[in-house]
Amino acid sequence: MDSLKELKLAVDSSVGGVSDDEDRLILALDFGTTFSGVSYAFTNDPEQIYTIDSWPGATDRIVPKTPTEIQYTPGSPDKFKWGYELEGTLEDKVIGLKLLLDPDQKRPYWIPTDPHAEIAKLPKPVVEVAADYIKAIFQQALSEVEKGYLPGFLDGFKKQYVLTVPAVWSDTAKAMTERAARRAGISPINMITEPEAAALFTLRTMKDKGLKDGDAIVICDAGGGTVDLVSYEIVSLAPFEVKGLTVPSGGALGSLMLNRSFEELIRQTVGEDDYVVLKKTEGYRSALREFDVAHKLSFRGPCDSDRYVSFPMANLKDNKAKGLMKNCMTLTGQHADINPCRQAMFRIFDPIIQEIMKLVIEQVRDVRIKQLESKNQNGSDVKVRFSAHTAPIFPTLPQSNIHCPVLQAIFLVGGFGASTYLKECIQTANPNIMVVQPKEA
Ligand SMILES: Nc1ncnc2c1ncn2[C@@H]1O[C@H](COP(=O)(O)OP(=O)(O)OP(=O)(O)O)[C@@H](O)[C@H]1O
Ligand SMILES: [Mg+2]
Repeated sequence: MDSLKELKLAVDSSVGGVSDDEDRLILALDFGTTFSGVSYAFTNDPEQIYTIDSWPGATDRIVPKTPTEIQYTPGSPDKFKWGYELEGTLEDKVIGLKLLLDPDQKRPYWIPTDPHAEIAKLPKPVVEVAADYIKAIFQQALSEVEKGYLPGFLDGFKKQYVLTVPAVWSDTAKAMTERAARRAGISPINMITEPEAAALFTLRTMKDKGLKDGDAIVICDAGGGTVDLVSYEIVSLAPFEVKGLTVPSGGALGSLMLNRSFEELIRQTVGEDDYVVLKKTEGYRSALREFDVAHKLSFRGPCDSDRYVSFPMANLKDNKAKGLMKNCMTLTGQHADINPCRQAMFRIFDPIIQEIMKLVIEQVRDVRIKQLESKNQNGSDVKVRFSAHTAPIFPTLPQSNIHCPVLQAIFLVGGFGASTYLKECIQTANPNIMVVQPKEA
């Protein structure tokens, strides 16, 4: 999510008391479950959008986002490290902070998670932890912005802030997020939903790449914590104008749930007693990290190669049937094997992907309903148009001047949206619609 032009519109429409002729600096925080980033623009040059790409702990690199992680010094709840400062740290740190702002959000029932227990382990209330992180990231952003100008230049600009929230965020969670931002000194703030931000960014970057006036698209932003969906119609490419076709939808089905599912698989494989001991070891943390940065990202679906996760010196009981031998667990992507241990990667991925697919199918259905409504508005003899590569599901008549959105593509964005296996599953379930993983997303 890097587009501030649209965010500016969102800001203009909902923040009162700021006249348009005042020069403003708008900073937008993409507060992600696993990674966060800040973009900014000046209202006197709104086409020029900048992204913060220098972060404490990673000054040797140019990266658009920093990890949403924070770790407090034991006994000093005001001292903390955050983001890349914690890179390589396996000790306890707060991860998935954003999800703790909505602890009652429905989670996948097959993954045992207890957000309230995680909140209880924090050294201070979750809103204050979120405020510390938000303050730190905006301080970094502002100091980076200031570097580009003469001292005092920014004093002439009012600052406005934009924050994204998941489509499924409860009102309480929105209020908590806003409270955390205010506590961090961020005001005035405007909140927009993540699928809307993702859609506007994707549509802008894709508009020169084959999309046409009248096309409808489904956006599925699969991130670390949540999956957020919405569908849009391109009313016009020039000037750029889009129209929301569906109500944004989503769920707590992000990539972090794959990690939790992997932990659950370890628990079931080694047994409850050994798991209690194993969980406290460095080897366990490093196995989780290996899953997160390697196995999970490279999983391609059927016929994938075997993977091994080892827990050195853990003294686990061998269990050949479950693929556990000599403290080493086999994770395989070979689907058709009768041995359950040989389906480990599918047991991790499939239940989550099934839930995401249900959400995609609901969006596609809702777009189809809009198409039918357009048809009815345009007269009963007029039929829905289809794009060249979509097989007609409804019968068509010769071209006419009617206006109906054409469901052109499903765009998969966000980190999890880059998954080869997720794309394959969604494509198989929707053979008549193109599934696209835009490079820029
Ligand atoms: N190929 C992949 N398969 C599965 N997960 C992936 C893949 N590539 C990246 N990820 C995961 O995507 C997540 C990062 O994505 P992103 O930055 O979109 O999430 P986020 O903005 O932090 O989360 P959210 O938007 O849900 O709050 C990480 O959890 C990362 O492990
Ligand atoms: Mg995100």
